[in-house]
Amino acid sequence: MRSLRICLKRITVLMALTLAAVLPTHAQAAPPSMEGKTAEQFYKSIKVLNGVPADQVIESMHQIRAALGVNCEFCHEDPDRAADTKEAKETARQMMRMVMDINKNNFKGQQEVTCYSCHRGSTVPMTTVPLPAVEKGEEPEPQGLPSADQILSKYVQALGGEQAIRKITSRIITGTQFIPTGPGGTMPVPAVIERSQKAPNLVVNFYRTPTYTISDGFDGSKAWSQDLRGRVTEPGATDQMRAKRNADFYLPLDLKQTYTQMQVRGFENVNGHDAYAVIARPQGDRVERLYFDVQTGLLVRKWSSLATPVGEAPFQVDYEDYRDTGSGVKFPYLIVMNPANARTEPSTTATIRVTKVQDNAPLDSSKFTKPESKAAAAAQ
Ligand code: HEC
Ligand code: HEC
Repeated sequence: MRSLRICLKRITVLMALTLAAVLPTHAQAAPPSMEGKTAEQFYKSIKVLNGVPADQVIESMHQIRAALGVNCEFCHEDPDRAADTKEAKETARQMMRMVMDINKNNFKGQQEVTCYSCHRGSTVPMTTVPLPAVEKGEEPEPQGLPSADQILSKYVQALGGEQAIRKITSRIITGTQFIPTGPGGTMPVPAVIERSQKAPNLVVNFYRTPTYTISDGFDGSKAWSQDLRGRVTEPGATDQMRAKRNADFYLPLDLKQTYTQMQVRGFENVNGHDAYAVIARPQGDRVERLYFDVQTGLLVRKWSSLATPVGEAPFQVDYEDYRDTGSGVKFPYLIVMNPANARTEPSTTATIRVTKVQDNAPLDSSKFTKPESKAAAAAQ
């Protein structure tokens, strides 16, 4: 069994399981004791990742695990991750140093080469070129792609049109989700989730399980989250930026302002449907990819990523089962996150089933005030 500290850490990670409006926030706080610490200040046996923020270590581990296609136990004892008993762990340290050197000496420190560049999901990288598969022919050049503007305006039309969207100024979304907790995120706990939103950009989310409640939100200027002990924290700069973007009540109407650059890349298949892939660059953040159904025009997938010391951690959200909420505007009633949130293991997923959407529900602005931290209050 793992220590309570690890369990609590897991639960804090759930903060990122924000019930997506149309796009989810990434609001998430580091566990209390980790805040502001470097890997070697927080963990016991760090020899390579010195100076890396402690809350990036687990994310890096998930990337490494996935890049090599192994379990954590390939390199680690369970539960003592600090023990240096396995040869593979020492090899991995050498590999980390090698990758850092390659990037430093050849790519101006950009993370161009990662564990995945060579490993591709295997512990033994290929050293020979695989024999060519049956001839596939040239990929046809994508023909007659619409412009980003055309795709965005079709999306707004598909949702019900700008006029109908602007008539709504607040919204309460209720749904259910099994949230992964416990070691490895393998213990699913049923939760009722409730998201309240008010224009222009107020958000509060509650996640209620049989035994605890956690919440997070955006109060118009800052993202926050409250853990099961009542402690309130503010996530780091990247998550603040993303939370702010995603809190925009009229995001579908504001996509052009949200992204400084949008470029239509071509077609991709998303869950059995053809979709336009649009590369979207937000101000000061990593590139995202938006996928719009060619037929319906609706946003069916959003892809984003986080930088970690060993490469990027992808996070993908699918929007399905769009229905009219009753006010002439469509909303996705099925939201699938892969992995479960921006900072969990690539192999976990999480599904939100929306049960009710109430448009123009009366919501007092005070509901969106950042709560007082209970732990802080107790310390006074
Ligand atoms: C391919 C080998 C490898 C795999 C797989 C791997 N790790 Fe690691 N892990 C390492 C190495 C190497 C370090 C030490 C890094 C350093 O010295 O800076 C480390 C360090 C850690 C630490 C810090 C321990 C301490 O107190 O010093 C934790 C926690 C951890 N790993 C968790 C995990 C988890 C959870 C997984 C599975 C998701 C995982 N690791 C998968 C190689 C691996
Ligand atoms: C430039 C290519 C390359 C990159 C990048 C790379 N590796 Fe490797 N790695 C190899 C090769 C080649 C081997 C096999 C060596 C052998 O067969 O002795 C290997 C072996 C390993 C092994 C030993 C596997 C076993 O069966 O015991 C581990 C663990 C490992 N790599 C971890 C990593 C990690 C973690 C990263 C990223 C930080 C990484 N590697 C990046 C090329 C690479």
